[in-house]
Amino acid sequence: MSSKRISRDGEDLDPGRLPQHVAMIMDGNGRWAKRRLLNRIQGHEKGADTVRAMVEACREVGIPFLTLYAFSTENWQRPKREVDALMALLNKFLQNERDELQKNGIRLAFIGEIARLPPRVRQSLEEVVAATASNDKLRLVLALSYGGRSEIVRMARRLAADVAAGQLVAAQIDSEWISRHLDTADIPDPDILIRTSGEMRISNFLLWQLAYTEFHFTPTLWPDFGKEEFFQILRNYQQRERRFGKVDTGADPA
Ligand code: IPE
Ligand code: IPE
Ligand code: MG
Repeated sequence: MSSKRISRDGEDLDPGRLPQHVAMIMDGNGRWAKRRLLNRIQGHEKGADTVRAMVEACREVGIPFLTLYAFSTENWQRPKREVDALMALLNKFLQNERDELQKNGIRLAFIGEIARLPPRVRQSLEEVVAATASNDKLRLVLALSYGGRSEIVRMARRLAADVAAGQLVAAQIDSEWISRHLDTADIPDPDILIRTSGEMRISNFLLWQLAYTEFHFTPTLWPDFGKEEFFQILRNYQQRERRFGKVDTGADPA
């Protein structure tokens, strides 16, 4: 047997080269259901199991930030039946997972226009966020009613209001100012973005924050995505060289 056996549980990952922030576009629930002659809602229900598995995986290997794209600003345009079911599922998730999050030291946070969520969902969300606020093992960030453009528009409005109030001058605006005024103000930019279901687009996710993020697209549908494939993606990430526009020192032949 080869001594270079690849671990199925991520224990072979280099802890010094782990991403600090993993972002995921959870896509393909509808197609997963369709292939099984189920309805789309059943696909979303199965997708919730993958959410739990990813939270557990990040906690196990020690990744401090996980952002999940759960509902986009554009997703409001889906049939009311599906939107209602997604909101009900979200509410159920928040209520069922509360104790588990607490037990595992996970802090729940959100980004997006949560004022648009049904009041009871918003209330559950705010309750869990407050209850887990001092946990520090993993920050689980749910992107809810989130759109990168809407986030930038909201930031620009605040900027204009601050200038109009005489509290801000043009010279004070730089990338740091902008980053501090987005929904992700206290969250580092993602190191890796994973999108399931084979679509190679970002669908209005974290437009500003993904500037230097590594991308990984997998054809696996979200309900079929699991820890084993996630750890394989992390192994691949650890082989990548991130240059941030600079040159690789030592790459030049003499
Ligand atoms: C992702 O699965 C979940 C949400 C966008 C809420 P989809 O519902 O987009 O599934 P497909 O893309 O139709 O397969
Ligand atoms: C992106 O998936 C949004 C979420 C995963 C929440 P969509 O299924 O809504 O994106 P498009 O329509 O394929 O771009
Ligand atoms: Mg989709």
